[in-house]
Amino acid sequence: EFLKKKVNEPILEYKKGSRERKALEQELSHYSKNVTEVPLRIGNKKITNNLERKQVMPSDHKSTLARFTHATKEQITEAIDVALQARVSWEKKSLKDRAEILLKAADLCAGKYRMSLNATTMLGQGKNIIQAEIDAACELIDFFRFNAVFAMDLEKYEPISTKLSKNTLHFRGMEGFVAAIAPFNFTAIGGNLPTAPALMGNVSLWKPSDTAVLSNYIIYQILEEAGMPPGVLSFLPSHGPDFGDAVTSSPHLSAINFTGSVPTFKHLWRRVADNLDRYVTFPKLIGECGGKNFHFIHPSAHLDSVATGTIRSAFEYSGQKCSACSRMYVPKSIWETLLKKLSEIHSQLKVGDVRDGSVFMSAVIDDKSFDRVKKYIDYAKTGADGAKIRLGGTYDDSKGYFVQPTIITVTNPKSKLLTEEIFGPVLTVYVYNDADVDKVLESVKDATPFGLTGAVFSQDKDFLYKARDVLRDAVGNMYLNDKSTGSIVGQQPFGGARLSGTNDKAGGPHYGIRWTSPLTIKETS
Ligand code: SER
Repeated sequence: EFLKKKVNEPILEYKKGSRERKALEQELSHYSKNVTEVPLRIGNKKITNNLERKQVMPSDHKSTLARFTHATKEQITEAIDVALQARVSWEKKSLKDRAEILLKAADLCAGKYRMSLNATTMLGQGKNIIQAEIDAACELIDFFRFNAVFAMDLEKYEPISTKLSKNTLHFRGMEGFVAAIAPFNFTAIGGNLPTAPALMGNVSLWKPSDTAVLSNYIIYQILEEAGMPPGVLSFLPSHGPDFGDAVTSSPHLSAINFTGSVPTFKHLWRRVADNLDRYVTFPKLIGECGGKNFHFIHPSAHLDSVATGTIRSAFEYSGQKCSACSRMYVPKSIWETLLKKLSEIHSQLKVGDVRDGSVFMSAVIDDKSFDRVKKYIDYAKTGADGAKIRLGGTYDDSKGYFVQPTIITVTNPKSKLLTEEIFGPVLTVYVYNDADVDKVLESVKDATPFGLTGAVFSQDKDFLYKARDVLRDAVGNMYLNDKSTGSIVGQQPFGGARLSGTNDKAGGPHYGIRWTSPLTIKETS
């Protein structure tokens, strides 16, 4: 069905009293009441001893959701051996056979397991219903389906053959194994990082984030049910440095598929450089890192769209999307009006436990995040950099890691509030003199080392396109008159430039080729 239409998975609305809402509530209640055991998975082995670690609910941190353990270095090494054995037959399967497993998994996510994916993403990662649905259901399903069809499309491009030579190109899997290091903030990315390479004939070691083990393990089980052979994917919650050390010191590392922070990604590059003489093949390092994404507002902008778009981009999922708007440039002539509009919407935002179906956003992911975000808010409270808290500014971690959606203005364009990634519900605004609009626009790119997403709001089309050209190298995903979040698989291939990552465009038609070591064969008659 999907192969014919190539449409994105429709978003369910979960209206109160609807069948889907009741089904979701049942799952929420099940996972809230029971502590789930999450094992390590290596080949046919399911290892459940010493489940001494726990995943708690960010909005109710005394409640434990899951117990799990970290893989030891020996277990990671064992998983590498098992993966290399599994690779032999996996790589020989046809792309179509491998794609069928992902398409089947997509159907299982869309039906039988949709509610458990959503419930565990809500409880464990602090998403409200809709944020969970667009991630753990829709985006995950879309990744599986679009990756499969885009990969099959790749095979349509054939090299030119002549009378003398028959030339063929084979998208062979890479020799070795892939290390997939997943983030907490998108369940879909957790599922995509190990499986996109697997689709292309590779075997992956999957390190989920400690704060997303449960939802990620559900995906693992779905893939298993869909027919993924043992050993193709290992599921290895681990201590980051142990995992990084074990995979980068194996001669068989063929690639790292990483989503996380810039310092961790740089560390992995350094580890690979240190081990360069060991490798059978040059490992490909593919990463999606942080951002300090902007909304740039021109005096002609449509203020209602700016207000709604900015609140959504900066605060949906507590500002923890890598694409979230966290700096905004606003001309003085419209700032007061805009602030009024922002404040009206802000006063209606409900923050609370994800199980209350009407919350706009919930807690940040964990104590470390809470402390980091709090420090930035406290810094603003000192008035440094001309900072003033305009909306929000409070926090409370007595029950969950709650931070109110906060808007700060600064007068110093170099303020760390305007240049550093905060990764929480904090938006910093720089109010500029209208006459300086071009100068300020020019300054946006080099204000930070990142280059993930950015948006320009302007009804003046000449300015809009000028800004598009000025900011050409400042981002990987640009939005004109739309908020900086919410890329859709197949529609807006996603990835960041500069230090935001290697910009390999997840969800795009060329993503799969990165996971191959293509083989060209020339045959003469
Ligand atoms: N793809 C997501 C978005 O665009 C971020 O990872 O919001």
